[in-house]
Amino acid sequence: MTEKLTDLPQWKALEAHHAEFDKVNLRELFDTDPGRAERYFAQAGDLSVDYSKHLVSDETLRLLLDLAKARGVFELRDRMFAGEKVNLTEDRAVLHVALRAPATERIEVDGEDVVPAVHEVLHRMSAFASRVRSGEWTGATGKRIKTVVNIGIGGSDLGPAMAYEALRAYTKRDMQFRFVSNVDGADLYEATQDLDPEETLFVVSSKTFTTVETITNATSAKKWLLAGLGGDEAAIAKHFVAVSTNDKAVAEFGIDTENMFGFWDWVGGRYSYDSAIGLSLMIAIGPERFEEMLGGFHTVDQHFRTAPAERNLPLLMGLIGLWYRDFWDAQTLAVLPYSHYLSKFTAYLQQLDMESNGKSTRRDGEPVEWETGPIVWGTPGTNGQHAYYQLIHQGTALIPADFIGFDRAIEGTDPFGQQDALMANFFAQTEALAFGKTREQVQAEGVPAAQVPHRTFRGNHPTTTLTAPRLTPSVLGQLVALYEHKVFVQGAVWDIDSFDQWGVELGKVLAKKIEPELSSGGELHHDSSTNAAIERYRGDRAA
Ligand code: F6P
Repeated sequence: MTEKLTDLPQWKALEAHHAEFDKVNLRELFDTDPGRAERYFAQAGDLSVDYSKHLVSDETLRLLLDLAKARGVFELRDRMFAGEKVNLTEDRAVLHVALRAPATERIEVDGEDVVPAVHEVLHRMSAFASRVRSGEWTGATGKRIKTVVNIGIGGSDLGPAMAYEALRAYTKRDMQFRFVSNVDGADLYEATQDLDPEETLFVVSSKTFTTVETITNATSAKKWLLAGLGGDEAAIAKHFVAVSTNDKAVAEFGIDTENMFGFWDWVGGRYSYDSAIGLSLMIAIGPERFEEMLGGFHTVDQHFRTAPAERNLPLLMGLIGLWYRDFWDAQTLAVLPYSHYLSKFTAYLQQLDMESNGKSTRRDGEPVEWETGPIVWGTPGTNGQHAYYQLIHQGTALIPADFIGFDRAIEGTDPFGQQDALMANFFAQTEALAFGKTREQVQAEGVPAAQVPHRTFRGNHPTTTLTAPRLTPSVLGQLVALYEHKVFVQGAVWDIDSFDQWGVELGKVLAKKIEPELSSGGELHHDSSTNAAIERYRGDRAA
């Protein structure tokens, strides 16, 4: 049994430090330390991170690094990279890093090098993606595929859907790509109602191939296709491919396993879009861009593995997040990209972070007695400014925020030169959040006395300023890997298993039980509230 986190002297030192530090504000920290911005800055690949606008001092960082050391974060990292079974509750290795390892690397699971298999699948994916893109792969009637519909949910949807949006500028514009996840029939209906089945390819993505939402949607998609193509079952082979670890279930569903792209149980769903789960993305951006993206992931993997602790970005971001979560009682983390292309990035991070670290049981089975994963939320920054930023600026909650921006727009996507207007907001917000506006400043502007308290900003709101030269496939890979490893660091300190997700099981099981009850009219054995709600639904359904 590992020592309880809150009993560690390093934890107690942080508590004492926080008690004193509580009164310090960012204005003062900057006024008394001219070298702060330069010192609190680190890079990984193309990513630059300024963490000077955080409520931290040299002492805070030293204590946090001491805690990480005491907690064996780097040892656990090395065990993960070495293919050890660090996912304890499922007894599995955690090797998303192998998905982007160069062919020359050797990473073993149970004595077997997994890198050749990764590259073999990548080659098959590349060949298939190229055939679809070139029109060599056709539908059953010989027509070119014009639309690819990915059917999946959670990690089998959010990753490819997010990355498709992020890299839309690099996609093949004469094809369309759609992502269906919700079991609400409207999702599939809206995705297919204007499509020609002869020109449509479905990529059914599911690690387990048992997920109800995905199998339901895929079954309906099959009906839609067959209805459109005169019922010829042989057409399925040309319009359905699968991405899964479960070849038996894929075959049972009716997809030829020749058209299946595999991955492995050591890839978690939320860590999987750089595996074959990225097939629809690869068709959209092409194998070369996909490879560039993998290269980006690998760059940050290497950084995480080799950069010294004081300059190690996932480590620093993880520890700073933990500082707020555990010592300042910050419950949320806002992730605010200043890029329209990253509109789904925060939704993607919600699964990555909240499914990984939304835990209250330690690795040894005992309950945790400290705060764990934050609620992650946010939307692209400028839109948020006109919606919820008011609460961040003047509300009562402490909301640390990650600001993500780019020095240049993606080539050709800013024909009217609006990037400066966008980034002016990016810089303005982090400045305003940190330093606010004092009563004296407001008064000096001649503001009527009654308005002064309302127009005073206390500031002291912590932010990370994360920038890169431009959003490219490689930079996207770097960003995602940065957050993957940040989540890892926090889970390691919190002593939780960041790689299982038992918490989503209960609802799944209950839904399976309830579905037949909705149409059966039989006696219900739930609590009185659920019974009554189902009865009302049955009544309305029958009306
Ligand atoms: O939400 C639970 C979960 O298991 C996720 O972890 C996973 O990404 C998602 O369901 C989809 O699972 P699958 O890829 O097996 O369909």
